[in-house]
Amino acid sequence: MRPLQVSARITKRFDAAWEALLPIGRDSTTSGYRRYAWTPADVACRAWFQEQARVRGLTVERDAGGNLLAWWDDSTRDRSEAILTGSHLDSVPDGGAFDGPLGVVSGLCAVDVLRERGVVPKRALAVGVFTDEEGARFGLACIGSRLLSGTLSMAAAYGLRDAGGLTMRDAMLAAGVEPDETQTLHDISRFSAFVELHIEQGKGLADGDSVGLATAIWPHGRWRYVFRGEANHAGTTRLTDRRDPVLPFAVTALAARRIAAEAGGLATFGRLLVEPNATNGVSSAVHAWLDARAPDATVLQALVDSIASAATAATDAHAVSLDVTLESSTPEVRFDSHLRARIARALDGEGRAIPALSTGAGHDAGILSSSLPSAMLFVRNRTGVSHSPLESADHDDCLDGVSALATVLEDLLCR
Ligand code: GLV
Ligand code: MN
Ligand code: MN
Repeated sequence: MRPLQVSARITKRFDAAWEALLPIGRDSTTSGYRRYAWTPADVACRAWFQEQARVRGLTVERDAGGNLLAWWDDSTRDRSEAILTGSHLDSVPDGGAFDGPLGVVSGLCAVDVLRERGVVPKRALAVGVFTDEEGARFGLACIGSRLLSGTLSMAAAYGLRDAGGLTMRDAMLAAGVEPDETQTLHDISRFSAFVELHIEQGKGLADGDSVGLATAIWPHGRWRYVFRGEANHAGTTRLTDRRDPVLPFAVTALAARRIAAEAGGLATFGRLLVEPNATNGVSSAVHAWLDARAPDATVLQALVDSIASAATAATDAHAVSLDVTLESSTPEVRFDSHLRARIARALDGEGRAIPALSTGAGHDAGILSSSLPSAMLFVRNRTGVSHSPLESADHDDCLDGVSALATVLEDLLCR
């Protein structure tokens, strides 16, 4: 694919926006990002967005869920049939710089490109920042876009609790934002399309093009497993007398790996909480979060059921109890075929045949696709590493992404 260059001025704008965001919420020892919803880091990211919008003359509106929209329009354009772009600014624990922010920075810089190209849009454009996409704080992924799509109520969102028991309502208050259930959410029925640009999170483009077009997202979900046994002394309790919850957890983690491999899906226990977490004690409980994904819903259900059965058998063998609860689930997404074809045509017109690929990663575009035609552009990730401080994309590829997004938005805004 022929790379589309942007001007030196746009490069400078991209670099300025990126560099201003880079230090926010970065841990000095791990270099990973800890931008959890409604923490000071998240508040600082939101202030960064307000400032980036201000310097571009975009008007920012915030809704009851904290979703931000920066509007590029004027009094002559009405906001029906508007176009939406953007992504999220929150991160996973010790996440990378690109997952989310690349889509927001690219959306803002695409406006710069369109202005530089002298584009006069027929429709309004909004660059969005969606609240808590990763679900790192309140357990549920894509809170902001679920609110917008109507699959999560404001009351349920405000009542979500973080690991310390604080509700999202109180977390918003602590962040200086007044939660108000009666306040409205952004009306997404006014948008005719959403295009989210995102770093690719595997090696799907590693040896290929700088930009790709998403076809689908695997169905996925999160389950909380609580194994409860009995705390006891590590030096005096006979092995046969123990009710150690770590053992059935270990069996379950290995079973999950085997079952996922057999099913052609993915299963991960990436978050653990062990109580009381003593070196010289048998544990009383293990809280383990299962993230499971598969190419289709039937395979996912079978995979999740098999892991739960393996866990039940293991807990029975160790006289440990088990409680499994679903925390978050997202059905399979197939992105709008007309919008995809239109995007491919627009980029083709610029001499870019864009590769198509599916992903196992969840996105706001996946959630919003149930409410409006949605699509995603992926920017190459040469190492394929993501949800890690080592996540990266080449500078040239990022600029190529901005250029491709601008071309797509120009087509959607003007035709
Ligand atoms: C978000 O990045 C997810 O796939 O969980
Ligand atoms: Mn992510
Ligand atoms: Mn993301």
